Parts: sequence; C-alpha cells; structure tokens
Amino acid sequence: MLSIEDNDLLTRTGPTTDMGALFRRFWLPALLSSQLREPDGVPIELTLLSERLVAFRDTSGAVGIMDVRCAHRHANLKWGRNEACGLRCVYHGWKFDRTGQCTDQPAEPENSRFKDSVRVKAYLVHEVGGIVWIYMGPVELVPEFPQLEWTLLPEDHFLATKRMQFCNYLQNLEGEIDTAHVNFLHRNLLDPEDDAIPVELLPPDLHDDGLMAPGFLARKRFDLAETDFGFVAMAKSEFPGGDYYWRMTPFLVPSFTLIPSAYEAANTWTGVVPVDDHNCVGFTVTWHHERPLNEHERLTVTSGAGVHALVDPETFIPIANKDNDYLIDRELQRTDSFTGIFGVRGEDLPMQEDQDGTITQRHEEHLGVTDRAIIGMRRLLLGLVKDLARGIEPPHAKRPLAYRARSVVAIAPKEEDPVELFVKGQPSTFVRASVQPAR
Ligand code: FES
Ligand SMILES: [Fe+2]
Repeated sequence: MLSIEDNDLLTRTGPTTDMGALFRRFWLPALLSSQLREPDGVPIELTLLSERLVAFRDTSGAVGIMDVRCAHRHANLKWGRNEACGLRCVYHGWKFDRTGQCTDQPAEPENSRFKDSVRVKAYLVHEVGGIVWIYMGPVELVPEFPQLEWTLLPEDHFLATKRMQFCNYLQNLEGEIDTAHVNFLHRNLLDPEDDAIPVELLPPDLHDDGLMAPGFLARKRFDLAETDFGFVAMAKSEFPGGDYYWRMTPFLVPSFTLIPSAYEAANTWTGVVPVDDHNCVGFTVTWHHERPLNEHERLTVTSGAGVHALVDPETFIPIANKDNDYLIDRELQRTDSFTGIFGVRGEDLPMQEDQDGTITQRHEEHLGVTDRAIIGMRRLLLGLVKDLARGIEPPHAKRPLAYRARSVVAIAPKEEDPVELFVKGQPSTFVRASVQPAR
C-alpha cells in the first residue's frame, strides 16, 4: 500500500507537480509518425502531462509540437493553415514556425518588429523508430536520446502502435510490470501455451485445461536487480524437473517496460505517458534485433490478439472499450478463456481502467508477495521524485546507452545466477557492470 500523499505524488503529473517534473526530464513518446503523414498536412491536437498541444509536420518534413493556443488571443491553432514552414492561425493570420517563433502578423503595421518578440511555447522534438518524441523539460537539461534498440534498426524490423487508455498512467505501468497476472488474466483454458511457456517444453501431463493456472507457474517469487536504466523484475516459479522458469521484465525510468520474451525472439517495449491525471496514452513497439519482423509477428501486432490493441484509426480508442463492456463473451469465459475478452491487451484494459476508478486508492489495497516488483517500482519513482524536488536530477536520464536492453524468458537450473541469465539476453553493447546483484 501507499500513503494517500505518496499516491498523489506519483499520480499527479501536471505542469506544477513533482511527478510532472520527473516526466519532464525524459524523452517521451508523443505521437506515431504515421499520424503526421505528409509535410503541410493536417495539424493534430493532443494533450500530454495535462498540457494542450498541437503537432504539425512543416514544409521541410520536420515536426513541431507547441502550445495549442495562438499567442495572440488564444484561438486553437489546430484549425490553422499548415503552410510554408509554419502554422498560421486562421483568426487574425499570425504565423508561427515549428520552434514557436512568430514569423508573420499581417495586420500589424508593415515595419513592425512586434512579431520578433512573440512566441508560443514549443518543445524539442525527435522523430525516430516510428514515433515522434517530445522533451518537455528545461532546455538546458535536455538528455541525449536513449538508445532504445528498435530506434537503431531499419523500419521493417519493428512495428509501433498506440492506444488511448482511460485511467491514470500508473495503473497501466503497474500492469506492465505485473508479470504475475499472466497466468490468470491471460490464461487460455484450451491452450497451455498461453501460460507463456513454449508448449513443447511442458511435460504432457501438465497440458491441463483446468480453470486455474497450475500452482507451479502461478506462485511466482521476485528478485529485483537494479540497473542503469531502472531495474529488472525477475519472476521465478518452480519448474518440473528442478529448474526455475524465469520471466524478466526490465523497467526503464520513467514509464517504459519490456515484456518478457525468450532469447533471440522478438521483443516488445511499452511506454505510457499521462494525457492528464485520469487518462493516458500507451505506446507498444515490437521489434526483432537482427531481421525484419516475420508474418506471424506482424499478425500478432495487427490482429489485436496480443499486447497491441485493436483501435479506431482516428481516435486510437480501443474497439473493445468500457462503453461496450470490452465486448466480453460470458459463454467464452465459461469454456475457452479466463476472461471471455479478446486479446491480451483487451484483457488488460478493463483491469486497469476499472481498478477503483481512474486513480486507485492505493492506501486501501493489500499487496502480496507477487507485488514485489510493483512495490520496487513505486519506491524507485518516489525516491526520484523526492530527490528532484530537492534539486537532485534523475541519473537515468543521462544514461542513453543503458536503454538498449532486452527482456528475458528462460528455464534454467536453480543454481544459475539470474543476473547472468539476464545479461546473456542483452545485446553485445550491454555493460555487465551496469546491473547490480539480484535481491
Ligand atoms: S488569435 Fe490567433 S491570430 Fe488572433
Ligand atoms: Fe497483461
């Protein structure tokens, strides 16, 4: 559980809040590149960290993201004309380039220099890996862009999607780190593979079709290993034959995770950003580090069966959502699936969006042993937030190389050091010394 004060501290992210300040020390995903298809195309209004913004791709192809309010008398710039390297407000014709500088005031006297002193607040933007990223913090502290692995790869090696989610960002983030729910929420009663172990590795007598997950898989214990990017949550369960089954979820400060994947398999990154305190936007990217994604991997992304949501292409609201009861099928729930809801992401949504409202009362919860990673994540973020409020900058923002990490799923003899199992799954650039012993 968390005190009411600490819950507030972690969940409020507007411009004047401490957690808002922490988010503003990192590059954050803002939009999919595909949302701004062509130069001089339609501008898009978006809200991030409770700030209303407008994004546009200018004539040169570069993206600008700035305050949605025209500097003149605050008309919404999304109605504007995107033309000749700037966004022109259609109320009185003032024009702003992508740095926010006013470049034209057609109704002011001809020789007026007034425009030189007028700006709208604009943020730094970096476009890579299918995503337009934004840095909303102090310009003098802008960090180098983190080396998230797919951002260094050719375009056919990755697929990026996004969805709107109707809850505070922390409910989503906790769900991403919570590998313990996989054996329940995402359990398919007819398909043991849904317990996330390759079916050929399961002894035949364990291909059960029971309602509940087999205890040896469900009773996970966690080790945490601190790293330069945050920590790795290492969940182990007893595996028949005397091994451990490991699922390792890296948590990358401030709000990114890597979903456990087997060595050499495609990896999936998730990044959640607050829209405001009651809504968030979740980005999901699947990539393979040494080849283009294959048909099966692409289908898992586009079908909505996996961790990428099926969404309305205009609004990014999931097709199955709270207004239609997530299209739950109670007959399916009796016979085939634990939830009766389609898709892994589809199952996550009602758990996170309907978790005591949009901001859950964490002082009234009861945490068990499988919540250790969630406790660790809250502790780490609280420490960083409180440090920052005292003037201590988050060190993770200054470690771009560390962000080139991958997740791990492994079955290994009990005596094997989980840190070694984790390091074995990392790219050759990974620095062994950047991960502390697991505890
Ligand atoms: S409000 Fe935009 S030009 Fe007047
Ligand atoms: Fe999930």
